[in-house]
Order: sequence, then structure tokens, then C-alpha cells
Amino acid sequence: MLEVKSKATFLEQSNKMDVPEQFLEQMQQYQEMMMMYRCAIREVQTKLEILNDAMSVRYQRNPINFIKSRVKSPVSIMNKLERKGLETTLESIEENLNDVAGIRVVCHFVDDIYDVAQMLARQDDLKVLEVKDYIKNPKPNGYRSYHMIVEIPVFLPKIKKPMRVEVQIRTIAMDFWASLDHQLRYKKDIENPEEISRELKACAEVISSTDYQMQEIRKKIEKITKDS
Ligand code: GTP
Ligand code: MG
Repeated sequence: MLEVKSKATFLEQSNKMDVPEQFLEQMQQYQEMMMMYRCAIREVQTKLEILNDAMSVRYQRNPINFIKSRVKSPVSIMNKLERKGLETTLESIEENLNDVAGIRVVCHFVDDIYDVAQMLARQDDLKVLEVKDYIKNPKPNGYRSYHMIVEIPVFLPKIKKPMRVEVQIRTIAMDFWASLDHQLRYKKDIENPEEISRELKACAEVISSTDYQMQEIRKKIEKITKDS
């Protein structure tokens, strides 16, 4: 984890290097902001882990396979602000970017996604600012996932600050597709992009239908075990 130095230590060390004080002040503010985003991730991730634990006791089944989180790198933050023609200041990051803190929740089945999303949204210390359901409305390329932008208060010694976190919820199958899509899209020497896009989309459809078939199989098994 990144160490956040006290302002005094920071300035003391930097004076030796003769770096402008204003720059250092901003660096420290940036580090503090990233620390806040990491705390927000921990808050939301703990909520998700608790939900998973509670459901595994109640239903003898874990809805969540794994959770991954990340804070956007400084380079990605700069690139995104520039791409969108936005100011590259700390205020602009907070105001305009919803995905500085990101959590990916990978569930076993499609209905688990909606259960987890609903249980998270119901918690009254968390505010849902935006939902994009790319499962009901897949992207034209075949991408599927459930996206939420949530806001959670982070409590520090003197302040309480609402922080935004992007939560992407998807099945193992959707995650498999998205990971490969991500890898492939960054290859630049593709000769036949339309054909590749068509093939990737076809894979997304197959994967989606498998997801629903697997869910039906699970329901059948649950019914058999309940009846017996
Ligand atoms: P961004 O500016 O990229 O954040 O897009 P947005 O603000 O319109 O948000 P959206 O909800 O569409 O996408 C947010 C994130 O979802 C992206 O940063 C990716 O992590 C993921 N994502 C969206 N579309 C795709 C896709 O087609 N393929 C893959 N692999 N990931 C995607
Ligand atoms: Mg994004």
C-alpha cells in the first residue's frame, strides 16, 4: 500500500531536492485522494463479502466467485481526462471520473448478479448514483455486465467524505469474454476487424445462452434436492 507521508515530512524531504512547494502540495493532495478511494473500495468490498458470507450460510451456496478491485493509475486518469477534453486537476478527477475506484464482482449465475446488486443497493449508508444494465441491454459488440456507480461515506479523523466507486457485476462466463475482448481489442495488427468483431459477438451470444442454461440446471437440481 502507498505510504501517505505527513505534510511536514514531505516538505522536509522535498526541500532538499529543491522542488516547488506548490507541486509537492498537489502531490500530497493526490496521494490523500487516492487513499480515500482505497478506503471507499474497502468499505464496499467488505459489504459484498458480508453479503456473500450471509448468503452462503442461508442457502449453502456462494453467489460470488471472486472480487477484484483497483484504483485507476495516474496515467489512466490523465489519459481519460485528456480524451474527454477535461481539465487535469484534482477537482476535475473527483467531479468527472466515476471509475477511479473500481470493484469487479464475479458471480456464478446471472440471478446472483441481480441478488447481489439489489442487496447492496438496499443498504442505507450507500447511495446508488447510476445503473447500466448491459445484461438486459448488451452493448452492440456483445459486452454484458451490470454496472453501478455507488457513493459511500468514508470517515477520517476530522471529516466524512462521500466517495464514488464503480461496481461491475458479471458472471464467470461474462468475465471470461470481457477479459479476452479486452486483450484482443488492443492488438493493432488485425487484418479483418469486421470479421473479428462478428466472431467475438457470436461468442458472446453462445456464452450468454450457456449462462442461462447453467442457471436452469442449477434450478432443476435445487428442485430435486428440495423435493427429496
Ligand atoms: P468509460 O469511459 O470507458 O468508463 O465508459 P462509460 O463511462 O460509458 O462506462 P461504461 O459503463 O460503458 O464502461 C465502463 C467500464 O466497463 C469500462 O472501463 C470497461 O472496464 C468495461 N467495459 C465497457 N464496455 C466494454 C467492452 O466492450 N469490453 C470490455 N472488455 N469491457 C468493457
Ligand atoms: Mg471506465
